[in-house]
Amino acid sequence: MDFNLRQYLNEKQELVNQYLTKILRQYDQERELIMAMGHSLLGRGKRLRPILSMAAAQACGKDFLLALPASCAIEMIHTYSLIHDDLPAMDNDDIRRGLPTCHKKFCDATAILAGDALLTHAFHIMAQPEQIFEKYPNDHTRIKLIARISKASGIQGMVEGQMLDMHSHVPDHEDPLTHLKKIHALKTGKMITVSVETGAISTGAELQAIEKLIVYAEKIGLAFQVADDILNIEGDPEIMGKASGSDVLNDKVTFPSIIGLEASKKYAKDLVEQAIEAITEFDEKAIPLRVIADYIINRDH
Ligand code: IPE
Ligand code: IPE
Ligand code: MG
Ligand code: MG
Repeated sequence: MDFNLRQYLNEKQELVNQYLTKILRQYDQERELIMAMGHSLLGRGKRLRPILSMAAAQACGKDFLLALPASCAIEMIHTYSLIHDDLPAMDNDDIRRGLPTCHKKFCDATAILAGDALLTHAFHIMAQPEQIFEKYPNDHTRIKLIARISKASGIQGMVEGQMLDMHSHVPDHEDPLTHLKKIHALKTGKMITVSVETGAISTGAELQAIEKLIVYAEKIGLAFQVADDILNIEGDPEIMGKASGSDVLNDKVTFPSIIGLEASKKYAKDLVEQAIEAITEFDEKAIPLRVIADYIINRDH
């Protein structure tokens, strides 16, 4: 089957952008809070997490539009995490999604609050999707999604990963690679895994299918972060829309710093193969997921 990845990504990105815009349009565009949220949210994001979510719904043979509300919520949470990650107290970055970071464009306090509002509003959208979306899962399913997404983004997921990443030293008793995998699994992996899981849960997929999709997602989640480490060395900041070289500058523990650049590339490739292997039982409906797995390590931004 002919599958055009570029077209697939563009269509899904446009759909997500359209709904994220609609979410913010409910409010006065002159308010500084809304402007700051929109500045970061509507920038040049790849929308990878929502796309994975919709592709997972498709792989289960279901209507991917049912996954759209939770997909948008995840993108809002992801964007909040980027705004806070860029703050002077964290990575102190100036450019994000090809634009000045939120705190550079506005100020630190506004960036903190824009992040807070994106996080909170994501759950408001999940609880009350009817004003924005034509299709959404039933109440029971949405409560399940809220539980999964809040878990993946908080104490047992992204925020804890950011905490460990911030104190990047490896504890004495731990092997550096094991420690790094743990950071990556929490910092990036949990949000990617819950994105895939969300697509399946939103559409009422079978438990057995969900379990296979989770294996796929954990592999590509790790591969995604390995690729991010590699891009931080080899990537073009213009194309990436954010700084490169910062990991070495900030003395970060990364895959290339522990196992070297070539071994990191090989590792990312092996993970993608394992991810694709995990979903062999899915038929051609899983082609987007398979092709996206490859894209995750071959992307230039
Ligand atoms: C960047 O995420 C932060 C990481 C988790 C490595 P993305 O590379 O998905 O960033 P956007 O959403 O496209 O801006
Ligand atoms: C950001 O991680 C990941 C988040 C959970 C926000 P990094 O700090 O490694 O990613 P970039 O390089 O700023 O996108
Ligand atoms: Mg960081
Ligand atoms: Mg950062």
